[in-house]
Amino acid sequence: MFIIHVNGKDYQIEQDKKLMRFLRDDLRLISVKDGCSQGACGTCTVLVDGKATRACIPMISKMEGKSIVTMEGLSDREKEVYSFAFAKAGAVQCGFCIPGMVISAKALIDVNTDPTRLEVIAAIRNNICRCTGYKKIIDGILLSAKILRENISVEGDNGVACVGDKIQRIDAKEKILGTGEYPDDIYLEDMVYASAVRSEYPRAKVLAIHLDRAKELEGVIDIFTAEDIPGNVKVGHLKQDWDTMIAVGKTTRYLGDAICLVVAESPEILEQAKLLVKVDYEVLEPVLNPFDAMKEDAPKVHSTGNVLAHEHLVRGNAEQVIADSKYKVTRHYETPWTEHAFLEPECAVAMPFDEGVFIYSTDQGIYDTQHECCIMLGLPPEKVIVENKLIGGGFGGKEDVSVQHHAALAAYLTKRIVKIKFSRQESIVIHPKRHPMWMDITTACDENGYLTAMKAVVVSDTGAYASLGGPVLQRACTHAAGPYNFQVIDIDGKAVYTNNPPAGAYRGFGVTQTCFGSERNLDLLAEMVGISPWEIRYRNAVRPGQVLPNGQITDETTGIVETLEAVKDIYEKEPYAGIACAMKNAGVGVGIPDWGRCRLLMKNGKIEIHAGASCIGQGLGTVLTQVVSETAQIPIEIITYCRPNTANSPDAGTTSGSRQTLITGEAAKRASELLKHALESNTLEELEGKEFYGEYLAKTDKMGSDLPNPVSHVAYGYATQVCLLNEDGTIKKMVAAHDVGKAVNPISTEGQIEGGVVMSMGYALTEKYEIKDGYPVSRFGTLGLFRADKVPELESIIIEKPGLDVGYGAIGIGEITSIPTAPAIAGAYYKLSGEFQTILPLHSTPYSKKK
Ligand code: FES
Ligand code: FES
Repeated sequence: MFIIHVNGKDYQIEQDKKLMRFLRDDLRLISVKDGCSQGACGTCTVLVDGKATRACIPMISKMEGKSIVTMEGLSDREKEVYSFAFAKAGAVQCGFCIPGMVISAKALIDVNTDPTRLEVIAAIRNNICRCTGYKKIIDGILLSAKILRENISVEGDNGVACVGDKIQRIDAKEKILGTGEYPDDIYLEDMVYASAVRSEYPRAKVLAIHLDRAKELEGVIDIFTAEDIPGNVKVGHLKQDWDTMIAVGKTTRYLGDAICLVVAESPEILEQAKLLVKVDYEVLEPVLNPFDAMKEDAPKVHSTGNVLAHEHLVRGNAEQVIADSKYKVTRHYETPWTEHAFLEPECAVAMPFDEGVFIYSTDQGIYDTQHECCIMLGLPPEKVIVENKLIGGGFGGKEDVSVQHHAALAAYLTKRIVKIKFSRQESIVIHPKRHPMWMDITTACDENGYLTAMKAVVVSDTGAYASLGGPVLQRACTHAAGPYNFQVIDIDGKAVYTNNPPAGAYRGFGVTQTCFGSERNLDLLAEMVGISPWEIRYRNAVRPGQVLPNGQITDETTGIVETLEAVKDIYEKEPYAGIACAMKNAGVGVGIPDWGRCRLLMKNGKIEIHAGASCIGQGLGTVLTQVVSETAQIPIEIITYCRPNTANSPDAGTTSGSRQTLITGEAAKRASELLKHALESNTLEELEGKEFYGEYLAKTDKMGSDLPNPVSHVAYGYATQVCLLNEDGTIKKMVAAHDVGKAVNPISTEGQIEGGVVMSMGYALTEKYEIKDGYPVSRFGTLGLFRADKVPELESIIIEKPGLDVGYGAIGIGEITSIPTAPAIAGAYYKLSGEFQTILPLHSTPYSKKK
């Protein structure tokens, strides 16, 4: 028996367990988030006798006589101040790290009421944030200290919020206080737990699955194999090639393949039961890289062959033009596997519902999840309802189903409420990663540095399953030549299956990889011509009315020149500066139907926004609220953004391709225009129960269109980023100038830029997802994620270029913020050391892992 003191009350506990499990599972203090259970992320931080402590490590027996405080235990004034200050500073994106951050802040401010910026950084150095780049969290903590110190009164936003206003995010408070629910925060009566037994080998034939001993364990409800699946065993975001479970007689494709699904009364019984499942395998030689996989005699990962996708983009005769050009450069580049490392591991809760299932999900598209679960269950869409809870980050890694279909299957077959949550290590092994790419790139220019042609051969390892490997390769190729005014290209790309973990969508969607190589080549060409890296980009930057390498004529919104001009002085006056540019589509494009849809419902004197578009931390709910508020001139306090639910939110597509702000934003605008019109002759009360619907189709031309100048995408964002180094090789400052069309909420826009830059600082310098012989060996703590104390000064420059006549001219920037960072950093180190590096992460920097 132990007695511990939590938030001012004593509790007696019979059985020893981890402190976090007691706080979450027994006391339901859900502000204590489980990001890793490995002591590596800080989301579970609580105060123990005033000291910030990770609750996932200590046992309760070690807590006797100590006083524990969670977010729920803060005073009302503290809750008011922290939630105001963090929201005001724009510190909250997905929110999953935030309660832990606030606790670390409180530990500091309680003993130091006027901390310096460096003291704040030191206080949160053990708390990882994957979204924000930390700058605004530090601002939020400093503002909290000031408000508490000077006893300043605080208040939220009210009234009409226009597009362009820096309002506080609508979901900031629930995320800061930890009251908002992510799926893992759901605790329901009679809920049971499920988890899959995974393959022991990257490639092995399953000979037999022995379930008897596990089934005999008390508390095991059932165990399912592929034979129990009522619909199609194969699911997949675009191509259905991913086995829900591997049946006896079939062959595994990677270590994350599920063999059977165990359902048990408690997480503890579940883990015991999984150990009792025995599987007989015939171990087979895996294929571990795309070059081996392309050999004729390579084992076939899928019966259709190992090449998932092949792109060949040709405009003009690149070979000839390169041969005739004054200067040319060829280099080979390599970029690594990268893990999204969103702070919230995958979790779903599914329950029987109307002869089908209801699923609480954390994903990037409720209709995608619904579609895949319907395929597997053999049910029509109306029998599978999916609702998003809060989503603790995605960055592309939550586009595929991971836990949802298994939870749906277990709930459907057992008729119980089932929770499936990945451990951090399962998340690291199972969900698709960023593709590693191998690239041979030749770029040529004339005697004045004007680009003439580019040739590239790109190979990506797409791992065991298709996921979004095809479109990622396509975007890597279509954007490889960058935002420049030349049209002779020959770009050949292949995405190849292997027995590695699958690779799929990841912030930047393939462009992060090819941009690294093509931008580095420009620096070498500039050297040959005798002009600066800034100058070669400026001379070639595409201007409105000119033609991109993909043939699209650029419109008035094209602002790459302005982003270059914004950084010219900063770049040219520093000795060790690197620069890189990028463009990135907003919207799916290339002729694929790309719909945004929004429904406004007048209910209880309020306006509910329903759109089947996931808010994964980028702030879509706030964007839509501002669009509705401005368009219909309605105060935000009577607007409610509802979590997407397939039963009442129209399909607005996946949160991917930086598309939601523009495409669903335009749909919301159209619905709001109808509401505004209705309000001219009715009061809100008179409209009670009425609905207003808007939709927008972003029309584009398909890939391979024979039009001379196809419209591949409705809009592009443009950016130039600069890295400045100190003499000792540490980064002094990152400057990111982004043409965003229109910033709907400038503080959120800045947050996206800062977060994207810091994420790609990791990509450039420290991050690598390590796989050895098909076995992922990285753990959360060894991924190389940037911490607050490594982040240099960040300057965001927002450039607004009007001209786009939809969505208030706002061009999504979720992805582009991460694209030019790595080549800019590599350029700076080239200036400092003279070594031209072609492989990421860069070696021999102050950030490199010590060997
Ligand atoms: S959950 Fe405790 S440190 Fe990650
Ligand atoms: S806001 Fe910090 S992890 Fe998302």
